Amino acid sequence: MDDRPPTSLWFCVAGNCPAHFKATLIDALQAANVFAQLRDPQPAAGPGVVCFATPTDDVCDLVREVSRSGVERVLAIATSRRALDNGSAWRVLQAGASDVFAWDAVDNPAAVIAARLRRWQAVDQLLQSPLVRNNLVGRSPAWLAVLRQTVEVARYTDAPILITGETGTGKELLARLVHTLDLRRSKRDLIVLDCTTIAPELSGSEFFGHERGAFTGAVTARDGAFALADGGTLFLDEVGELPPTLQAQLLRVIQEHTYKRVGSNTWQRTDFRLVCATNRDLTSDDSRVHFRRDLYYRIASWTCHVPPLRERTSDIMPLARHFAQQLTSDRSVPDFDAAVQEYLLKRDYAGNIRDLKQLVSRLMYRHVGPGPITPGDIPEAERAPFATDRPDATIEPAIRHALDRGAGLKEIRSLAEDTAIRLALADEDDNVPRAARKLGVTDRALQLRRAAQRSQAINDHTDD
Ligand SMILES: Nc1ncnc2c1ncn2[C@@H]1O[C@H](COP(=O)(O)OP(=O)(O)O)[C@@H](O)[C@H]1O
Ligand SMILES: [Mg+2]
Repeated sequence: MDDRPPTSLWFCVAGNCPAHFKATLIDALQAANVFAQLRDPQPAAGPGVVCFATPTDDVCDLVREVSRSGVERVLAIATSRRALDNGSAWRVLQAGASDVFAWDAVDNPAAVIAARLRRWQAVDQLLQSPLVRNNLVGRSPAWLAVLRQTVEVARYTDAPILITGETGTGKELLARLVHTLDLRRSKRDLIVLDCTTIAPELSGSEFFGHERGAFTGAVTARDGAFALADGGTLFLDEVGELPPTLQAQLLRVIQEHTYKRVGSNTWQRTDFRLVCATNRDLTSDDSRVHFRRDLYYRIASWTCHVPPLRERTSDIMPLARHFAQQLTSDRSVPDFDAAVQEYLLKRDYAGNIRDLKQLVSRLMYRHVGPGPITPGDIPEAERAPFATDRPDATIEPAIRHALDRGAGLKEIRSLAEDTAIRLALADEDDNVPRAARKLGVTDRALQLRRAAQRSQAINDHTDD
């Protein structure tokens, strides 16, 4: 019997699963101190298990539904290893399962399930903690996936992490989270070094520190980032800007944990966790990106890509409210009225979340009184782009054509929607969550809409 505290999970069995498997699963998990309960028809919280005999389309649909396309953790269990031949495992993962394996392919499957489950529960608890929830806002599937992986890698490994993403997407915020979640005993400070500010004439003194008199102006000896980060975390921001000579020296420090101060012959030891960020593709073959491959593999044991705000528009309003709240310490937080919400959702954010944050503060400066934030609070100079941003010029001829051939408003609306859905799905290789994100609707809304389209098509066909 497993002596860890008991825990519970939900499970569901696909139609093609043998009848006896349910009892096998329940009994085996019980021995691992896990109480398995059939899934309620109501959406269940937390991780669970889906069992199946063959990974049919129905099984993938079930995984998609119960995992909410990957938002909830689902472990998919095939009853026999034959079921996962021919690359079927990837299909199940693509449908939203967090992991998949066959019951008869491992020695003690219940122990494997229990270990995964306990880990996922612990990570979910961290995600729900005030530390994470109150500081890292956003509930879009894309953002949650990034956050969940970052939390897990930060807490359970000491791997160097490379965070990529456009400017203002929250890379530094995630780097700070990695340091906070790090459980090293007697952990020391987080040292932030912006690689765009490293002056070549100081020979990397920002990194290595220097002895007195090492170069003109070095009137006293100083510690550099490697010394300061010893026992803590070194965050190298914009690491892609690092000059080639310093790249070679950094590689050495990461490999050997030793370095010399500028002007000194003595080796010093240092031991830090490394987190790097960049808005460039460091693996690009573009000759303008001079980034050493060997260094890349050292700093990117684990990489995390933070999507731009335009790919997670469902985070815009929660973030806007969060920033409004930060700016109103003593009074109640005003809401955003419908027109302003529409403006916020449709606007371009070249600087991503930083842009949104600055915009919200401009709205808040202008806002007066107890009512909601209204369009008049938007600075005049910022109203125009939205008004001209509409795709009127290109859409007008198509609508004129539809009107000319007698289409009414209802037909035009549904034609436009159907076309948008078809294009978004084609652009995203039929991936419903990504297409839904692009269309700014929930996965479920898109699935329902597709189902309605299909039944409409069948009706049209039988009417013919
Ligand atoms: N998910 C988020 N929740 C709350 N604030 C965020 C979030 N992401 C970014 N921010 C805020 O947006 C600004 C830009 O984030 P930052 O981490 O500096 O971006 P980057 O390093 O990618 O340029 C910061 O003020 C940060 O606090
Ligand atoms: Mg930054």
